[in-house]
Formats: sequence, structure tokens, C-alpha cells
Amino acid sequence: MEPRGDTGALRTLIDREHLAVTVYKRQIGAFRKWPQIDRWLEEGAANEEWHRDGITARLREFGGRPSVLRFFFALAGGVIGLGSRVTGKRMLLKIDIGVERLAVKHYTTFLGRYSWDDETRVMLEKMRHDEEIHIQHWEQGLDMLRGMNRTAGG
Ligand SMILES: [Fe+2]
Ligand SMILES: [Fe+2]
Repeated sequence: MEPRGDTGALRTLIDREHLAVTVYKRQIGAFRKWPQIDRWLEEGAANEEWHRDGITARLREFGGRPSVLRFFFALAGGVIGLGSRVTGKRMLLKIDIGVERLAVKHYTTFLGRYSWDDETRVMLEKMRHDEEIHIQHWEQGLDMLRGMNRTAGG
């Protein structure tokens, strides 16, 4: 088995992280009445940038280069991010949960499919864990919206 993992898998992850960064950047400010959710969006954008840059650095160490497709994913992220702002707050969070579940799935698939060196494996496992935390944030966000609706009588 290839001992240093797979550069194609890293490229795919970079594309997806780039998408997540732009989704969250477009969504920051959508929750003025729920500053905690806005803070999570800011932290999420920064966290996804850290993922993207960390994986990019590792890919370069492996002698690979990020795909030019990442610009397409950035564009798609912008469309999803802006689009989700007109669909309503609940749908926005549900879209984000979908984006994150897909990310977890990618990390799990790539962790299982290739033989990574320890350092890279630990990094990818940490990132997958971060994505699980993001899902928890958006689920808590949905609870907050529900609570707000109840107290407002809506
Ligand atoms: Fe990420
Ligand atoms: Fe995430």
C-alpha cells in the first residue's frame, strides 16, 4: 500500500474546505439576534481556512499541487452561502449540516481507504472531529431558533 496516503484525496479535501470557507464567510452576519450562531460562523470560517491551509501544506510536502478546480468550489460555496441567506435561517443551518455531514463522510472514506503516515492521520482525524463539532453547533442553532419561536408565540 502507498505509505504516504493519496494526493488526489488531499486535493478533494482542499476543494471541499475551500467551499466550506466561502459558505461560512457569506453567512456571517445572518444571525444578528443570535450572536452565538454568528460567532460560530466566524469560528467555522477560520477553522475551515485552517483545514484548507493545513491540508494544502501537507499536499505540497507530498509533492502535489492543489487543483485549479478549487476556484470553482469557492464560487459554488459563495452561491450556496448567499443562496442560503434568502432561504431562511432554519434552512441555512440545515444546508450547513448537509455540507458538514458530507465533509465527515469524505474524511471517513479517505481515512479508511488509504494508508497515511501517523502525522497526517492525526491531522485528518482532528479535522473530522472539528466537522462533527460544527454539526453540533448548527444543531444547537436550530434549537435556539425553535426556542425563540416558542417564546415569541410563533
Ligand atoms: Fe473543514
Ligand atoms: Fe466544518
